[in-house]
Amino acid sequence: MENRTELLANEAEMMVSKTETFLQDVLKGLNAEPKYLESKYFYDSIGDGLFQQIMRSPEYYPTNCELEIFSLQTDEITKVFTKDSQAFDLVELGAGDALKSAYLLQNLVKKKSDFTYYPIDISENVIAGLHKNLPDRIKGLKIHGLNGEYFNMLQKVNNISRRKKIVLFLGSNIGNMHPEDALRFCGKLRDHLSSGDLLLIGFDLKKDPQTILNAYNDKQGYTRDFNLNLLNRINKELGGNFNTDNFKHYPTYDPETGACKSYLVSTRDQKVRIEAADVEIGFEKNECIHTEISQKYDKEEIDRLAGVTGFTIVDSFYDSRKWFLDAVWLVG
Ligand code: AVI
Repeated sequence: MENRTELLANEAEMMVSKTETFLQDVLKGLNAEPKYLESKYFYDSIGDGLFQQIMRSPEYYPTNCELEIFSLQTDEITKVFTKDSQAFDLVELGAGDALKSAYLLQNLVKKKSDFTYYPIDISENVIAGLHKNLPDRIKGLKIHGLNGEYFNMLQKVNNISRRKKIVLFLGSNIGNMHPEDALRFCGKLRDHLSSGDLLLIGFDLKKDPQTILNAYNDKQGYTRDFNLNLLNRINKELGGNFNTDNFKHYPTYDPETGACKSYLVSTRDQKVRIEAADVEIGFEKNECIHTEISQKYDKEEIDRLAGVTGFTIVDSFYDSRKWFLDAVWLVG
């Protein structure tokens, strides 16, 4: 009984510290010039649902492109991973529903490769779901899910096993980092790996600017709602009084830099109260809050990123339209 009380107290403490971090991040972003909010806060249960809808919308091509790569080039990817016939740990950062990686897992099991799948995700539900469903769908799969922050969990895998590591970082999640942060991230990833380890990383490529812009402005309005959900989340969790009718979803794409950015634009002069901090934030008409970057790359930029962060390029898997690239890099 005492343990259960302690457990509940711990959980409550964690919730408080999560809310406090959210509040501090929101205040920092909304008091900055220009204003911004961090895109990691899109993903509460409503945001997760909206992201699923975005992925199913006809304009949002990245998911289908990468799905095509994993479903049609499964053998080729498997060959690259199993070339040296060594046993390995397959670590997936941000595994989600593992829809794409399931093709690979299935094939690796079929080919009797000696490997354990370590999906890592920030969501406890995601990991529980994978443990429940994947072994039923893929008989013989060895799975060890880890719930937590990427690098802490990667360190944990290193402590559990000294086998060769193959890391998957799919979905062009790297695009949600500013290029200089992506560079730091890849360098840090390199530092957590050893010589001979592999990284497969998904990049959304530069293409017809209109195609990119449409992907972040779907006709059904799922991306708009996804963006505005940030304000709803502040209302719910921090006692905000944002009126979402007074903000407009505004995506942009710069074909020179490859930066696709989303904003929320204030459609009038207004003041918004955030009860949790007892503050009021002023917005001028047409003032923007930067909410997300989805950086697009070209092959040269990707190769440069590999080189400067200590990786060697092993292989490149494109979809049939060459809109997306899954690059395989080796730790030299
Ligand atoms: C998760 N991430 C790679 C998506 C992207 O394309 O940047 C998130 C997203 N934002 C709007 N639509 C999709």
